[in-house]
Amino acid sequence: MTIEKIGVLGCGLMGAGIAQVCAQAGFETVVREIDQKFIDKGFALIEKNVNRAVEKGKISEKDKDAIWNRLKGTLELDDLRDCDLIIEAVVENLEVKNEMFTALDKICPEGTILASNTSSLTIMAMAASTNRPDRFCGLHFFNPVPVMKLVEVVKTIATSQETINRCSEFCKRLGKKAILAKDNSGFIVNRLLIPYLLDAIRVLEQGIATTEDIDTGMKLGLNYPMGPLTLLDFVGLDTTHSIANIMFEEYHEQRFAPPPLLKKMVLAGYYGRKSGKGFYDYSGEKPVPSDLGI
Ligand code: CAA
Ligand code: NAD
Repeated sequence: MTIEKIGVLGCGLMGAGIAQVCAQAGFETVVREIDQKFIDKGFALIEKNVNRAVEKGKISEKDKDAIWNRLKGTLELDDLRDCDLIIEAVVENLEVKNEMFTALDKICPEGTILASNTSSLTIMAMAASTNRPDRFCGLHFFNPVPVMKLVEVVKTIATSQETINRCSEFCKRLGKKAILAKDNSGFIVNRLLIPYLLDAIRVLEQGIATTEDIDTGMKLGLNYPMGPLTLLDFVGLDTTHSIANIMFEEYHEQRFAPPPLLKKMVLAGYYGRKSGKGFYDYSGEKPVPSDLGI
């Protein structure tokens, strides 16, 4: 059975990117959100990316029309019932994710594969809310999805090899490089990345260096494309806070514990780029470091 029709849950930073690359690769794609305003916001992001690709001559006007013809937004979970693969990319919260997986498990045919783009939850914690743990896996994309080449394909102790093979083949059709990861919180990349990002916050919090110097240090000292505080704003501080809490609860290791500054920023509504303010303030022409009272 080949994968032809894709369902995407959530049209935020990641859901919009996943929907875009699926439609661009020729898959019929349906994206489900909880409010029309989130579909509009996500589709505006896709439009910007696709128009940029047309301007750069990477895709033609005809391709652009075909992409939009393959892409549909919906508020109804039921519209995903005939999808071959459903990729979940909603907020990093187990209850919210499982509510949808349990419902989809009831309405989708046997062959449908369910997958999560979670950053930190174990896949088995979601597969267990369905009656198809053999057809359930992790598909962890990276932000920004249209640019980043990697997908971690996550096999739980219950995922069938056939499911892994079909999903790895799907990643290939998207033009992505798939690597196989075991079902440990954070998989491979976030297991290494999250302690580094949290440490950068601790360096700032302890007054060891300024926001700009921390970022400049890691950019110019290691040739990273972004400094850690810029990357945190890019990922979303609300999402990172949830990830850190989940990983700390899983491993009970201090390096995964969310620093108090991160919690305070989330409480203040400083979610990073998506809210206009995080470690940097994005309201002006160029981002400037936020005054965090340190
Ligand atoms: N969405 C889509 N495309 C984007 C984009 C965005 N937000 N930002 C940039 N691009 C595209 C540009 O159109 C451009 O495309 P072309 O090569 O086709 O022209 C390309 O990316 C390079 O863009 P720029 O020259 O404008 O910018 P840049 O060279 O500074 O690169 C970047 C931007 C790719 C985002 C780069 O800064 C980068 O790689 N940053 C690090 C990203 C990263 O580490 N992501 C992982 C986050 S962690 C994660 O995802 C896992 C998790 O669970 C939290
Ligand atoms: P986001 O906050 O940008 O978007 C989440 C979207 O989910 C919102 O638009 C929200 O309206 C929607 N949503 C909430 N409940 C829903 C429901 N029941 N049905 C449909 N939509 C619903 O978050 P994001 O950054 O796109 O993260 C989404 C997932 O991807 C999380 O699990 C996150 O850990 C993971 N992830 C994030 C990144 C990143 O860099 N931000 C990278 C890889 C993986």
